[in-house]
Amino acid sequence: MKITLSVIKADIGGYVGHSESHPDILAEAKTCMVKPKNDGLLIDYHVTKCGDDLQLVMTHQQGEDSEIIHKLAWDTFLGCTEVARQLKLHGAGQDLLADAFSGNVRGMGPGLAEMEIEERGAETIIIFMADKTSSGAWNLPLYKMFADPFNTIGLVIAENMHHGFSFEVHDIKMGKKIFFNAPEEIYDLLVFIGAPSRFMVKAVRHRGSGTIAAASSTQRLSLIAGRYVGKDDPVCIVRSQGDFPAVGEVLEPFSVPILVEGWMRGSHNGPLMPVAIPDSTPTRFDGPPRVTALGFQLAAGKLVGPRDMFADISFDNARRQAKDVADYMRAHGPFEPHRLPLEEMEYTTMPQVMKKLEKRFTSIG
Ligand code: F6R
Ligand code: MG
Ligand code: MG
Repeated sequence: MKITLSVIKADIGGYVGHSESHPDILAEAKTCMVKPKNDGLLIDYHVTKCGDDLQLVMTHQQGEDSEIIHKLAWDTFLGCTEVARQLKLHGAGQDLLADAFSGNVRGMGPGLAEMEIEERGAETIIIFMADKTSSGAWNLPLYKMFADPFNTIGLVIAENMHHGFSFEVHDIKMGKKIFFNAPEEIYDLLVFIGAPSRFMVKAVRHRGSGTIAAASSTQRLSLIAGRYVGKDDPVCIVRSQGDFPAVGEVLEPFSVPILVEGWMRGSHNGPLMPVAIPDSTPTRFDGPPRVTALGFQLAAGKLVGPRDMFADISFDNARRQAKDVADYMRAHGPFEPHRLPLEEMEYTTMPQVMKKLEKRFTSIG
């Protein structure tokens, strides 16, 4: 049975500031999903949040890039923006960058991770959602899951994974894509994906069967808007078990709170802290960046779940370490490498300050 899983998200208003989503927004989004499900357009849905981002998880049989599904998400975001305006939430409608819907949500502001799959006998899915960070934050975790035997022992000892995975990498500055085969091309792959602000892992496929294993959102809001309008706060879908890494192998990369760009004003490096959904409330210096993970079993497209995967106490050390790293990074204040390099910063006063001081700059000689 072919099923499409669409995860579409947007920040349509924060409560309080950019720290959390208001319960009325989630309630409105759920209301918007009821009729499409009763009408049979959606097989199932789950509405959730990660920090100030509204997340719509939908299953259906309309395929990827379906106009009707994307319009449903867009209209839901519009309806929720209306609620955000009434409550005067912060940044109401901030990620809706287009005036009107046209065809699909790509390039319009919302983040999108989507995959059409042939549902397996048991279809285990993990959906990752992040707040206060950029698309590209998934590069290192996806590499570890699908190419690093120190993370995924299945690559070594499970016959159905031993031939490796292929990585689809997008150069979002040039609008180009390239495919790499792991393990034999990992050095070439790492040259690119080690620079996640430009090169992003869009998808991963099983090399034996060519089937999709992971899909991520790669939209860069600042490139779409031409200015800073909030961080991308990306999402990623990963299939697990059988031909794919086990649940524990999929979650393992997050046991270390890696440094990602984002945090306060989208202009800082900080630790990506794995948290349960209720703890996705980035408050300290508008952070530190959070990642959540919801696990589902699919049953003919029905979303059986979710299980809040990072609620497990075995991620307590990662959280403690993230808090220590946050203290350490914060001690640098406005200095790099806590502050992002000039060209990566979402905010900068440099042009104005330069202009003001232009005449005071004289030659060193
Ligand atoms: C980071 C983020 C926040 C805001 C900051 C200022 O992704 O969303 O750190 O950049 O709170 O927000 P505004 O400009 O909306 O007052
Ligand atoms: Mg926000
Ligand atoms: Mg956000």
